[in-house]
Amino acid sequence: MASREQFSSKTGFVMAAAGSAIGLGNIWGFPTQTASNGGAAFVLVYFVLAFCLAYPALMAELIIGRHARANVMTALRGISTGKFTYRLGTAVGCYGVITASLILSFYAIVAGWMLAFLLESVCQILGWSDVSKWLVSFSFERNIIFMALFMMLTISIIAKGVTGGIEKWSTRLMPLLIVILVGLIIYVLIQDGASEGLRVYLLPEFSQINPRLIIDAMGQAFFSLSLGVGTMLIYGSYLSEEESLPALGAAVTLVDAGIAFIAGLLIIPAIYVAKQYGAEIFTDAGQLIAGPDLIFQVLPVLFKSMGSVGMVVGLAFFVLMSIASLTSSISMLEVPVSLAAEETAASRVQATWAIGAIIFCISTLILLNFDALFGFVIDLTTVYSQPILGVLLCIFVGWIWHRDNLLAEIKKGHPEIQGGFFWKVWPTYVRFFCPVLIMTAFIQSVV
Ligand code: TRP
Repeated sequence: MASREQFSSKTGFVMAAAGSAIGLGNIWGFPTQTASNGGAAFVLVYFVLAFCLAYPALMAELIIGRHARANVMTALRGISTGKFTYRLGTAVGCYGVITASLILSFYAIVAGWMLAFLLESVCQILGWSDVSKWLVSFSFERNIIFMALFMMLTISIIAKGVTGGIEKWSTRLMPLLIVILVGLIIYVLIQDGASEGLRVYLLPEFSQINPRLIIDAMGQAFFSLSLGVGTMLIYGSYLSEEESLPALGAAVTLVDAGIAFIAGLLIIPAIYVAKQYGAEIFTDAGQLIAGPDLIFQVLPVLFKSMGSVGMVVGLAFFVLMSIASLTSSISMLEVPVSLAAEETAASRVQATWAIGAIIFCISTLILLNFDALFGFVIDLTTVYSQPILGVLLCIFVGWIWHRDNLLAEIKKGHPEIQGGFFWKVWPTYVRFFCPVLIMTAFIQSVV
């Protein structure tokens, strides 16, 4: 058997994992959830949950992955201890792979819109107004063309493998993303109206902390850290044994939460600057506009009103969104592709194209029945499946896997860990607290 690919360095892994984590969830989801959930109170709860709930779950995935050095299904089977848990591993692995594929099928549609708006900014600069208009109007043709384009980009990176595809492009694109993000923040913060937005974003209203807010923050943390479906597990499986997992996991959590926080410094003030320019920023019910209208209507009003500078700012904004989407989507596609490439006779390239084609078909189906399926698939995967899978993975680590093997795995790259805080707390934590907390929040939100 050919030797399995590995990230070439610690930085390579952090870039790839942070690239997966940092996506539309950070730049769009987090700021708008914050705005509609009482500003800084949500930020606070989010940070607590990211470190106390999402980080331990992330560790579970990274540890299983590096131990098994395989895709999610093979990995769970590998740590099973009997016939029943072996079958459970197969089932949970399947569920994860299907969920990852379905998440990609709606993510590719949204990311396609980002590409369309990116191209629109270019057409504006060139003065091609007819094309511009078509690019920003919602139509089946536009949606399918740009979804296909985005899928092709994702496929072409994944077909190239771990170091030549995932690592290479994450290390190129992530620094660029940060530069654009910081540039945009500086620009927006010096505009009129920005300080009102900052106030909404940063001043907590503690009276707003309620069960709904906590559940939203948990869902957001799970989505943002790409948890449950085996994405982080497969990235962990490409990590060298010399690296310390708890430290790397903490770095990824910190970077992800940090970028979400600074994205809020861009989006919320930008909304209030747009208000100065006459954009409608509240819904009829008095809530801040948070959904697609925010990105595709409110912010474009802002860009348009800023004249020729606005064209460049708009372009930079949609380049930022497209990059963030791409480094995330590759991590979703890697989940089914690694399974197919490792468990069937297909080569990586064949597996990538075949699975890419299947996901393209699912996305097309969603586009054909947009009103019925789009929201449904998002809820099915992110609201229901991700927390359930999160609990199942904690059960695998906390209850099924032998504790000695678990310890042996964490000790690699971190020999002194047995006496430390992490090993004292974490195993019990993933055994009891994580599943109970996740389930409680989940049941609350469903009932
Ligand atoms: N975390 C990414 C974001 O914030 C999305 C993402 C990538 C994801 N891989 C995932 C979400 C796996 C759930 C599962 O946009």
